[in-house]
Amino acid sequence: MRKRSLAFMVGHMAVATIAGGALLAAPALAPAQDGEAATSTFHHRALWIENPSSETVLSWTTSEEGSNHRVYWDTEARNGDITQYANETATFSDGKVTMKDDDWEWVEPAYYHHVHLDGLEADTNYYVVFASDDAVSDEFHFRTAPDEDVEVSILFGGDSRIRGMEPYNHTERQQMNLRIRHLFENYENIIAFAHGGDYCMLADWRYMEPWLTDHEMTTTRDGRLLPVIPARGNHDRGIGFEEAFAWPELDRNYYFETKLTPAVSLITLNTETELGGEQRDWLAGTLAAIAPERRWLAAQYHRPAFPSVRSAADGIPRRTHWVPLFEEYGVALGMESHDHSLKRTVPIRSYAPDFERGVVYIGDGGLGAPLRNPDPDRWWLQEPGMVGSVYHVHVLTFGEEELHGRAYGMGGDVVDDFTIEARE
Ligand SMILES: [Fe+2]
Ligand SMILES: [Fe+2]
Repeated sequence: MRKRSLAFMVGHMAVATIAGGALLAAPALAPAQDGEAATSTFHHRALWIENPSSETVLSWTTSEEGSNHRVYWDTEARNGDITQYANETATFSDGKVTMKDDDWEWVEPAYYHHVHLDGLEADTNYYVVFASDDAVSDEFHFRTAPDEDVEVSILFGGDSRIRGMEPYNHTERQQMNLRIRHLFENYENIIAFAHGGDYCMLADWRYMEPWLTDHEMTTTRDGRLLPVIPARGNHDRGIGFEEAFAWPELDRNYYFETKLTPAVSLITLNTETELGGEQRDWLAGTLAAIAPERRWLAAQYHRPAFPSVRSAADGIPRRTHWVPLFEEYGVALGMESHDHSLKRTVPIRSYAPDFERGVVYIGDGGLGAPLRNPDPDRWWLQEPGMVGSVYHVHVLTFGEEELHGRAYGMGGDVVDDFTIEARE
């Protein structure tokens, strides 16, 4: 049994203690000592930032520091026999997860590890095992993005943080992760999962540890990893976000372009840093460069331009700095979070409905955070737009003639369905 399970159990025991009103101390655990050999690997996952047809970061956690961390990988399945894999790549980043004072009650110290794979073949399955010292994981696989103009789908959702401050109250998030896995297993073309931010209450280890554990529920039963494309939310400002989602020389403060195919780009923006200035300049330059070559441009960012719950004024910074660029360069879809509801706006241009050239905005975060009551009277939420208070995850399919979006509820029911026609 891997060691992390122990931390998980301790968390639950402490919950029971609090709920019961008794002041029983959690059982004492011997914390790992720096330099101890790693005995197991966990939190296995894949990350996409740029160029997913050729690059991926593979990440995992250990309870001990260990010294020899690497991934074995091949285009053929090798069933975990590390002598058989054609390639071996060492980590570019290892470290002790930052612990805050409040973390110690809930979780043990841990160590993060990140491997960057580059020069991969497009649209190809890669079979991988994660290894720390003598500890070797089961075999997983991931598939790189295509480098041809073919139809692809991604999952999109935000706000997977839990209810309240207690780290293990996360049933809704787990249910949504099972839904995500089911969709990933049953949709032919899903290649990645765009997360719109607010993973946890805070990017502290007592919250990030269970998030990473829950994220493993999205891995298919035959071991396919679902690459995350991460946006940063207001709950994710801590160093724990960077320790979980590391990418070599990511020096642009977590705003970037992910080229899903030669015809489709997802732009990820960061609402938790300056929206104007360098970020706006980067967005303008990127859109100017890629718009002529892409059929579909979509943008994800945490705080909405067209909120469904918070006041209309709350969206002014996004409407001031980014929306004019979306409109100028033909972004089809704004993917928003933060308000904890389900919404789809009417197509919008120049702060008014425009059914010819408007941008549609979807959101607003339904991966398990407590739902809120949206305001159905906003002009941007009128039919053919929609709004509701329901947990959901979107499947977005970027086709040759249309972008098809479908939102699924926790139980698999379709809670929204829409299409956007490709422009000439
Ligand atoms: Fe949130
Ligand atoms: Fe938020």
